Parts: sequence; C-alpha cells; structure tokens
Amino acid sequence: MSRKTVLSCIQPTGEMHLGNYFGAVKNWVDLQADYDCFYGVVDYHAMTMPYDPKKLRNNTWELIINLIAVGVEPKNLFIQSLIPEHAELNWIFNCYCSYGQLTRMTQFKDKSQSSSESNKDNFISAGLLDYPVLQAADILIYKADFVPVGKDQEQHLELTRDIAQRFNNGVGKEYFVLPDTLYTDTPKIKSTADPNRKMSKSAGEKHYISVFADEARIRKQIKSAVTDTGDSVKGQMSSGVENLFTLLNASGDSPNSYKQLMSDYKAGMLKYSDLKAAVSDSVVDMISAFKENKKALLEDKRGVKYKIKESSAEIRKRAQKTLAEVKDLVGLLNVKF
Ligand code: AMP
Ligand code: TRP
Repeated sequence: MSRKTVLSCIQPTGEMHLGNYFGAVKNWVDLQADYDCFYGVVDYHAMTMPYDPKKLRNNTWELIINLIAVGVEPKNLFIQSLIPEHAELNWIFNCYCSYGQLTRMTQFKDKSQSSSESNKDNFISAGLLDYPVLQAADILIYKADFVPVGKDQEQHLELTRDIAQRFNNGVGKEYFVLPDTLYTDTPKIKSTADPNRKMSKSAGEKHYISVFADEARIRKQIKSAVTDTGDSVKGQMSSGVENLFTLLNASGDSPNSYKQLMSDYKAGMLKYSDLKAAVSDSVVDMISAFKENKKALLEDKRGVKYKIKESSAEIRKRAQKTLAEVKDLVGLLNVKF
C-alpha cells in the first residue's frame, strides 16, 4: 500500500523555541516513520511582513540547520523559493479564490494591524492578503493528504479546501484531494514567565525558551518559572505548575519521576524546586543531542547547503508534474523550451 503524503511548512522568522518545537516540529520528526513527508522553509511567506532582506537568507539556512539538528531528514526538506512552481500555482489559484474570503481571514486582520503599526506609512502588502493562497499552493502542489499544523492554521486549511473544490468544479474533474489537518497531542506550551500566555517569540525574550540556548540560561529560566499566578482556583492545579508538568512529560523525562512528582503534588507535598529541577534536567538532556548535531552541521555548512539544494531539486520534480497537469486543465499552454 502506498504511503499517505504529509506536508507542512514553517517561516524562517525567529528562533526555534520549546513552544514551536513541541507544538509542531517534534511532530514533523515523528511522522517521518509512517508518511511520505515534505517539509518546507517558506521564505516567500516571510516577505509578507516588513522584514530585513539582509537577514532573510541567513534565517533560512539557520532554520534548515535547526530542523536537521532536531531530527528532520534532509531529503524531506525544501526551500520554497527554490521551487518556483509554488509561485506559479499561487497565481492560478488567485483566480479560483474569492477576494472577500481573503479579507475575512483572522490572521490577515491581526497581522495587517501589526504590520501597519510597525511602519510609519501604514504599509500593508498585497502579499499579506494573498498569503493563504500561496499556502494552498504549497499544500496542493504535493497533493498532501495531511497537514500537521497548530489550531491557528485551521482557517487557512479550510480556504485550501475551498480553493481545491472550486478548482475541481471549474475544470470539471476531481483533480485535487481535499487535505485534512493533523493536530498534535501536545497542548499549548505556555510562557514560563507568564503561564497565562503561550510561549512565543513575539511576546519578548523572557517569554520563550530557545531550543539552542545555553544550559545555564535554560536552567535559570525554568528555575524562575511562575508557579502561582494569584488567580489559581483552590483544589485546581495552577497553569504554571501544569505547564511544568507538560514540559516534563513532553521532554521525555523518565515516567517514574513524572509519576512520583505527580503523586507528591496530589498528596500536597510537592516541592516546586524539585519539579523545576526535574524539568531542567529533562529539557537539558533532550537538547544536548540537538546541540551536538547542530555543532557538527555548522562545521559543514557547505555540505548542508548542497544537500538541501539536491533535495529541493528532487522534490521540485513532483511540483513540476502537478503544475503541468494543472496548466492543461485550466487551458494554459504547456510548452517545454
Ligand atoms: P510560530 O513559531 O508561531 O510561527 O509557529 C510555528 C508552529 O508552531 C505553528 O504550527 C504553531 O501552532 C506552533 N506553535 C507555536 N508556538 C507554540 C506554543 N507555545 N505551543 C504549541 N505550539 C506552538
Ligand atoms: N502559515 C503557516 C504558519 O504561519 C506556515 C505555512 C506556509 C504552512 N505554508 C504552509 C503551514 C503550508 C502548513 C502548510 O505557521
């Protein structure tokens, strides 16, 4: 039986932290055993918000190295701008997507506000509005069955299915399969400095723990994690303590110590310092292998670049096949020069 196809992408903006690692990237790694996987670093998407052209290329390579260091196989990785068919399919899909639907996307509404606030001429790019159509092209060009993403992407996946459906109706053929989302089991990781908000880079330095930060910093951040927020309900675990247990479980701590600490908690005997020490040990232990991998990859940057250009070229063949079929279906010329 042929394996189902999984596709997901991530923008080269900012560092990898425990939130997006446990919420998304770890799942990418695990899915590789059972699916044909395509994982993209979407640099075209990173241009939709005000950005620094001098940094984009470095951020792209940095993210590629981080993804490989945590276990994504290079053969499954591609860089979006190396596969121009994504942008071509984007144009074709623009003509199968309603303008009104794009203006109703929550991410567009949120980001257009922060985009216009962050520059004095209130600039909001048309790329930001069109962002989800390029995302639909990323997904459908590989005919993905499943797309592992966070809940925040549900609306974009619905739009992708609408585009696929309108396309199929338009060309009179069930050409595209409608992809499904695949959610992770890991609940949202919260900021250790404020467990009422999610761990995220945009909230500021103390609100995220970088996967590649040095050990001392990680231990310090976990040591100072907020455990009681003042608004905890009696008899209910506070969100800060719950977040520490989530981190302990997710980072693969030995089941015994998790169980022991949980039973201490239930007996009202848990020392937060013990819980924090266990979380620190377990996180530090998990990432020490990632860091070693990263060090080796950084020593062979040229080798990494070569591999990713090769994997992108291989993956591109599949995109080219879809685009040629699509061009036939929509009435465009399909000439090889
Ligand atoms: P971001 O880093 O915010 O661009 O998100 C990349 C992916 O990681 C998305 O699929 C998010 O849903 C997921 N993600 C980001 N932050 C968290 C978090 N704190 N907890 C769980 N998942 C997250
Ligand atoms: N919009 C996604 C995010 O912000 C990134 C993305 C771009 C994506 N293209 C995709 C995710 C295709 C899944 C599939 O996280």
